Amino acid sequence: MRYRTLGSSDLEVSEISLGSWLTYSGGVEADRTRACTEAAFDAGINFFDTANVYGRGAAESAWGEILSAHPRDSYVLATKVWGRMSDDPADQGLSPAQIAKQIDASLTRLRTDHVDLYQAHRFDASVPIEDTVEALQKVVEQGKARYLGFSEWTPEQIRAALDISSPGLFVSSQPQYSMLWQAPEAEVFELCAANGISQIVWSPLAQGVLTGKYKPGEPVPEGSRFASADMAVSQDLVYSDATLEAVQRLVPIAEEAGMSMPTLALAWVLRRTEVASAITGASRPEQVHANAAASGVELSADLLAAVDRALGDAPVTGPTLAPGAQTGVKHR
Ligand SMILES: NC(=O)c1ccc[n+]([C@@H]2O[C@H](COP(=O)([O-])OP(=O)(O)OC[C@H]3O[C@@H](n4cnc5c(N)ncnc54)[C@H](OP(=O)(O)O)[C@@H]3O)[C@@H](O)[C@H]2O)c1
Repeated sequence: MRYRTLGSSDLEVSEISLGSWLTYSGGVEADRTRACTEAAFDAGINFFDTANVYGRGAAESAWGEILSAHPRDSYVLATKVWGRMSDDPADQGLSPAQIAKQIDASLTRLRTDHVDLYQAHRFDASVPIEDTVEALQKVVEQGKARYLGFSEWTPEQIRAALDISSPGLFVSSQPQYSMLWQAPEAEVFELCAANGISQIVWSPLAQGVLTGKYKPGEPVPEGSRFASADMAVSQDLVYSDATLEAVQRLVPIAEEAGMSMPTLALAWVLRRTEVASAITGASRPEQVHANAAASGVELSADLLAAVDRALGDAPVTGPTLAPGAQTGVKHR
């Protein structure tokens, strides 16, 4: 496993990291959650990404139990705040009161006195940016987080936060980024790089689609993420047969290069130096090992050109904002 420095921080994160969305907050049972997490340590993965809202605390609690058995300085821990945590519609967002409450709840569940990275899961345009940044900064001053990050903020929102925060406080940006979702390359990568902020990218395998296991016109494989009723709907919305056909065109390219499809997809996001880590998901420990193998794999210019040709116009060009993302910035 290779490691990259996270933005301007002193954190060294594994090129492949493990996330817990949809998996360790419900879909994957406790034994397998433990097996996947331990497989990550075995593979040299030191970077773990979760969020308060995953399973409304369940994902953090599951990892709190497992990670706390490892020395705290052997892993880099990231969590997030913003999502709705209870039936009370006020129990969400980035107000100072919510941030103060949620960091303490996250630390309790994660069984630690600090996280390395505290991320705003989305932007909260109902709260003045000055209030949000001050509240996040206070979390760092209190020693409850070492650094800050954000996920799916627009360039305007990123600039507004950087204008009023101490340099070096925000070190990561977490956008969706994969062969099938290239939107952040347009502006976010460059803006962040100029400000000492790395990308840690989510769904680099497009939720498993880029492994090639979903075949156009064929039933969804049993036990896979899109076989579950909830996810089947979003697969239809996001991944058309045309996209799945494009992914199948990548299969011989990977074979000829002597690499697996997950390796091709993950090495593709890691080809960009702006990306510090690809945050993968895994429902089985074998997937963790397969994905970790992508670290250090270089893709030649010819191979990258072949990938572009195979993808054609398949990359998703629809809405560039993730669900729940807001535009605009409110000031005091
Ligand atoms: N900031 C945000 O808003 C946001 C949003 C989404 C995710 N995230 C973060 O990003 C992390 C990763 O997201 P993701 O789970 O969508 O990432 P992903 O790596 O694109 O997809 C992971 C899923 O693909 C399948 N898979 C993984 N490796 C495989 C392999 N080698 N062979 C076959 N199938 C494989 C597994 O599902 P099955 O085995 O069930 O098919 C696995 O759960 C999350 O856990 C979370 O930490 C953040």
